[in-house]
Parts: sequence; C-alpha cells; structure tokens
Amino acid sequence: MKLTLKIWRQANSKVKGKLFEYSISDVSPDMSFLEMMDVLNEELIQKGDDPIAFDHDCREGICGMCSMFINGQAHGPDRLVTTCQLHMRKFKDGDTITIEPFRANAFPVIKDLVVDRSSFERIQQAGGFISINTSGNTQDANSIPIEKNDADDAFDAATCIGCGACVASCKNASAMLFVSAKVSQYALLPQGKVEATNRVLNMVKQMDEEGFGNCTNTGACEVECPKGISLENIARMNREYLGASIKSK
Ligand code: SF4
Ligand code: FES
Repeated sequence: MKLTLKIWRQANSKVKGKLFEYSISDVSPDMSFLEMMDVLNEELIQKGDDPIAFDHDCREGICGMCSMFINGQAHGPDRLVTTCQLHMRKFKDGDTITIEPFRANAFPVIKDLVVDRSSFERIQQAGGFISINTSGNTQDANSIPIEKNDADDAFDAATCIGCGACVASCKNASAMLFVSAKVSQYALLPQGKVEATNRVLNMVKQMDEEGFGNCTNTGACEVECPKGISLENIARMNREYLGASIKSK
C-alpha cells in the first residue's frame, strides 16, 4: 500500500505545532500501525531528518503507552484495540491518514505525538491503592469470599490500562471513566472498603486539580475505550462520592 500521512509535529508544549505531510510506500496490510510508523522513522533517520516521537512500550495492548489520535479517533478506527494492536489492513491503498496526539489541557505535548500523562499517575497516588499490613498476619486473599458478580465487575474495572483515550475522546476532556475504573476496582472488593471514603474524595479532588473537565454523559469515552470500560463505573463512582461526602461531614 502507498499512503499519505499527515502527522502532528510539535517541538514541545511551549511552541505551536502543525501537520506535516509524508508519503510512505510498501506498507504491508499485516504491519501494525506502530510498525508502519517505525518504517517511516527509519526512512526519516536515513535522510538525516528528525524521527517522529511517539509513545510505545509493550506493543500488545497492555501498558497503555501508545496514544495516537488517528483520523479523529483515539487508537484509530478499530473497536476495542490500542494503536499498537491496530493493523494496516484497516486502511486501503491511497488513503490519507491524519495522526495527532491525545489532546487535553491536562495532557501537555512533550514532543510530536508524545503527551505527558503524569496527571493520571498523580490521581492514582491520591488514592488508587490499598494499604495492607504485610508483617506476617495478612489474611490470604483467597480465603475471603467475594460474590461472583462483584469479582467480575472489579476485574472488568481493573482492565483499564490508563491510556487516556477516554480523555482524548471527550469533548470536555473528562477523566471520569479512568478515575471511576480505578475507584470501582476497589469499591467492589472487601479489601478496598477500609480506605473507600478517602480514596474517592482524594482521587476526585486530584482529578479536578489536574484540570480535567466534567462528565456530561455523552458516552464517547466508553465507545473509544480500548478495554471496553463501562459507563456504569462512572455511576458507581458518583454513588461512592456522594456517600463519602456525607460520611466526611
Ligand atoms: S478507561 Fe479506557 S480509555 Fe480510559 S484510560 Fe482506562 S483503558 Fe484507557
Ligand atoms: S504499546 Fe502498550 S498498549 Fe500499546
């Protein structure tokens, strides 16, 4: 396949960026999107040009690092896949593909397609954990009975990979789907009940301080999430937040 790529290039968050056009040929339909970008970068390096900066790590849909906005969709046109799992067979010979970074005030551009998602880490640090005494008296988790539906829902919430596609897809750049997944995975389990009140209050406070927008129930986050995280988690987080607000009064 021969493709035209319009790629966002930006030196850092302080300067303006713009789309640059590149041509690439001999793209195999079996290549992943990131492999196609690797080929383009090899060509740029051989010509002495600056390669395009983009985030990646596992390349198997687990780490959440890959973060491209492809033809107006976070992680591109396929459903329930990350950019690293998107294959070039989704495109056809002669296509023009526009590639941009995940855009949100809380995700400033570091370079080209790489954005700073440390705001997510600060939200996690505010409450996305449980404290367990591991001094020798810890109860074996397998000996604590958990209702099957709760275990399944907690597991589903825990599959959030923290990629930020929900934020990039939301017209308000809201991080509610991400935060609600992190709150839900503990809210449903007995181990998470101990710190539940502080967790939801602190994580939502940090989310607001980072500059993410509010949720207006559009649902774009759920549609574009590569892990199928459900909006039900947002409803659960809202209930948790209301309960915690009353308790903390
Ligand atoms: S909720 Fe989905 S889109 Fe948002 S960070 Fe988690 S995996 Fe990514
Ligand atoms: S590179 Fe790890 S999820 Fe895409």
